[in-house]
Amino acid sequence: MILITGASGNVGREVVKQALAVGLNIRATFQSPDIAAKAPAGLEGVVMDYAKPDTIRPALRGVEKIFLVGPPVWDLPALEANFIKEVRAAGRPHVVKISALGGRESMFPSRHRDSEENIEASGLPYTFLRPNGFMQNLVNYNAGTIRSQNAFYGCQGNGAVSLVDIRDLAAVAVIVLAATGHEGKSYTLTGGETLTNGHIAEKLSGIAGHKISYVDLPPTEFKRVLLSAGTPEWSADALVDLQRLYREGKASMVTDNVERLAGRKPITFDQFARDYAFAW
Ligand SMILES: NC(=O)c1ccc[n+]([C@@H]2O[C@H](COP(=O)([O-])OP(=O)(O)OC[C@H]3O[C@@H](n4cnc5c(N)ncnc54)[C@H](OP(=O)(O)O)[C@@H]3O)[C@@H](O)[C@H]2O)c1
Repeated sequence: MILITGASGNVGREVVKQALAVGLNIRATFQSPDIAAKAPAGLEGVVMDYAKPDTIRPALRGVEKIFLVGPPVWDLPALEANFIKEVRAAGRPHVVKISALGGRESMFPSRHRDSEENIEASGLPYTFLRPNGFMQNLVNYNAGTIRSQNAFYGCQGNGAVSLVDIRDLAAVAVIVLAATGHEGKSYTLTGGETLTNGHIAEKLSGIAGHKISYVDLPPTEFKRVLLSAGTPEWSADALVDLQRLYREGKASMVTDNVERLAGRKPITFDQFARDYAFAW
């Protein structure tokens, strides 16, 4: 039995889909009973909250592997630590954690590194998947202004980034969950190419059939835009800091882990942009 947490999220949803497609025996966790009730056929849906140990224990029954997806919030390390405490009490399942590229160099990845260190210290078998920024962020966070203003905003200047498609991340996750031999390993997951936001704007323009621009803002102005859109202050600071990492070229490395583990080349940005053409 494999437990997939955060199954309603961007990553968890795709991992559930791909795990079901290859016939894995899965249980998936949802925060909301309504969403759990609508879980896809072929899996066991359970309601679980990382902050409520009573909801974690039943989710862990009979589980040999866990795909751990914490929410991208400040208290991620504490939420995941609550969960890991219950996992240790339940046995020795292998924990495959979604982390992030960047380690201690930026705020979001640093919160993930805190949680990684806690898992390392727990004595549980683990694998860390450390993806770069997701291509799908453009759909989730930028498609609104792309459609309404033919523009998207940021403060990463000409920093090039090897964005990864969530579908590739999920393909690697399913391989690691289905196989042995990945214990104690950390995999940095990137796309196969590095692109600036200027390149991305050109590619999206080609798909949309009209000009889409990237507008680079000073970091303080970008933070103001994020706050006015309702982003919590810590998340706004962390997003601005991530763009600083991108601007400095520290998220531009290309690894071969997707190809090596999934057995095929990473999805290109062109392919992603065509597949999500409805968004532009
Ligand atoms: N976006 C990127 O470019 C990027 C890059 C590298 C790493 N990451 C990391 O990837 C991870 C997954 O990202 P994502 O986009 O899939 O996030 P997401 O869509 O926000 O999904 C988070 C999931 O966690 C669930 N959740 C939230 N709070 C919970 C709680 N207290 N107890 C139990 N479940 C809870 C959510 O349930 P609800 O749907 O009910 O809220 C949702 O299913 C994050 O840790 C993020 O930091 C992201």
